[in-house]
Amino acid sequence: MEQNKDLNQFDIPLAKRTLLNNSNSILKKKLLILSPFLFLLFSIFALRFNRNIEIGAPNNLNFQAQINHDHRILGHLPYAEIPEAKLVLIEPNIKVHIDMRDSLLKMRDEAKKDGIYLVFLSGYRSINLQNEIFYSLKSFRNQEAAERARVSAPPGYSEHSTGFAIDIGDATKRDTDFETEFENTDTFKWLKKNAAKFHFKLSFKKNNKYIDYEPWHWRYEGSVEALKVFETANREI
Ligand code: DAL
Ligand code: ZN
Repeated sequence: MEQNKDLNQFDIPLAKRTLLNNSNSILKKKLLILSPFLFLLFSIFALRFNRNIEIGAPNNLNFQAQINHDHRILGHLPYAEIPEAKLVLIEPNIKVHIDMRDSLLKMRDEAKKDGIYLVFLSGYRSINLQNEIFYSLKSFRNQEAAERARVSAPPGYSEHSTGFAIDIGDATKRDTDFETEFENTDTFKWLKKNAAKFHFKLSFKKNNKYIDYEPWHWRYEGSVEALKVFETANREI
């Protein structure tokens, strides 16, 4: 009896014994037993997550680069030089892609019937010539590249090198050649209304975020080759 009394001293009080049996305590016990496994599981998960971030980051950066740049230089898309064999002379000093020759000449004839006189100012330009136009004038005008690029494409980035671009003026208003005022001529008004019939499209509109408005610069999109060349340009401005 005396022994039992002594033992009772070390025994857990009745109230606390019930506490040990309640669900909270059971959960704590289980957690205690499982904790090494949970720790291991958490470590594996954390490691995998970390690796995904490390691997994912450069991919995300590449993707971002594609969105931002799309191979442009100062806002201009790259264009390859058309092989000489695909070029035809339509006027002294003006060569164009053979695909667009007939349509371009027909457009000029149709305009003439309406009393509108188109003059062709510039067609195909080699990458070498574009190099001259870009860098010599940049230097002469003391312009930075970004400033120059608002009005002229860097070599390898001009639609003119494809043979599918043509700069058009009004034969009766030569003072508006390559000037924004060209948009006020009858020729421009006629082109705006009729150019699509001949598969021509204005390349650099007023809303272009990279290149200044060029009402004189038209590109041909009347063949699959031309559409392929301008596919990227038609997807974005
Ligand atoms: N003027 C246009 C942008 C060109 O140089 O192709
Ligand atoms: Zn042009």
